[in-house]
Amino acid sequence: MLRSVFIALSQNRTLRSFAERSSIGRKMSGRFVAGMTIDEALRACERMNREDIAVTLDALGESVTTEAEAEASANVYHAMLDALAARGLNANVSLKLSQMGMDFDAALAERIVGKLVEHASAVNSFVRVDMEGSPYTEATIAMTERLQACGDGAGRVGTVLQAYLYRTEADAELLLGQGIRIRLCKGAYNEPAEIAFPQKTDVDANYVKLAKRMMTSGVFCGLATHDGAIVEKLLAFVRERSVPKNAFEFQMLYGIRRDLQRRLVKLGFGVRVYVPFGPEWYPYFMRRLAERPANVLFLLKNFLKS
Ligand code: FDA
Repeated sequence: MLRSVFIALSQNRTLRSFAERSSIGRKMSGRFVAGMTIDEALRACERMNREDIAVTLDALGESVTTEAEAEASANVYHAMLDALAARGLNANVSLKLSQMGMDFDAALAERIVGKLVEHASAVNSFVRVDMEGSPYTEATIAMTERLQACGDGAGRVGTVLQAYLYRTEADAELLLGQGIRIRLCKGAYNEPAEIAFPQKTDVDANYVKLAKRMMTSGVFCGLATHDGAIVEKLLAFVRERSVPKNAFEFQMLYGIRRDLQRRLVKLGFGVRVYVPFGPEWYPYFMRRLAERPANVLFLLKNFLKS
């Protein structure tokens, strides 16, 4: 119930514009967002890399409405790819198609992301296309397939699949068959029972099943979760099936389960943290509250203390 409320609020434009301009909002967002500028994000990357944690950097933004905004988003990503290469950081980038113009011109979005994939290839990096709500699923998968097949795209682009969708098992087979790297997550949007498991226990069971398939697929996948019970199941699977530790990586979000991130690094697993930054933090922040409404109390307590 609370989850749906926060997800609905994440799409409220009035609240978004108010929150993103307020200093209190910016301060609270610091729990999940690495800063407002690229330099702050790069410093967060350096801190993570010092702890042997890789990064994927996200310049926050979604649902742009003009070509100029889409191009401006892309320019930030080109600057990020150059900065990561110049500083020799162990980091790649994650972006959203709605940030690149997908909502009003799919061909424009594909051109923009295609150029970013070319750039990533030139600097030995990688572009992850995040998965948004279900209206984007089909188009995101199809675009990722085309980008992987085009020019130097192979191995330079991947996408995200969500364990809450019934279709994901088939999508995983489709992408693995083409060697496309998948990030597996549970899914962060409100989806109807016609297309997504309504029960969390079913989502969790599907997550474990799909993760095991990916770990033994020969394609390097990212297992994105903070769920300690699921991580234990996957560690047991690694032991039982002697899965090489470098066959996959764990992925987590900035500011969440730092203890688990460090423990997995100590155990010799690859860990990548998703580091978001930028002034357009509101929808991302609200989705994090939706995942764990207890965060609201935590944030308020810290805010009142400071
Ligand atoms: P679950 O929500 O069951 O939480 C398990 C435990 O993790 C909780 O009990 C708590 O301890 C901790 N936890 C989880 N969320 C927390 C939070 N916000 N604050 C504090 N503790 C928290 N989704 C999507 O739809 N498209 C995408 O492209 C991505 N990309 C993505 C990248 C990466 C690297 C990650 C880790 C996640 C995503 N997600 C995503 C989000 C994902 O779908 C999901 O909503 C969250 O990861 C929460 O699910 P968990 O697997 O962590 O389990």
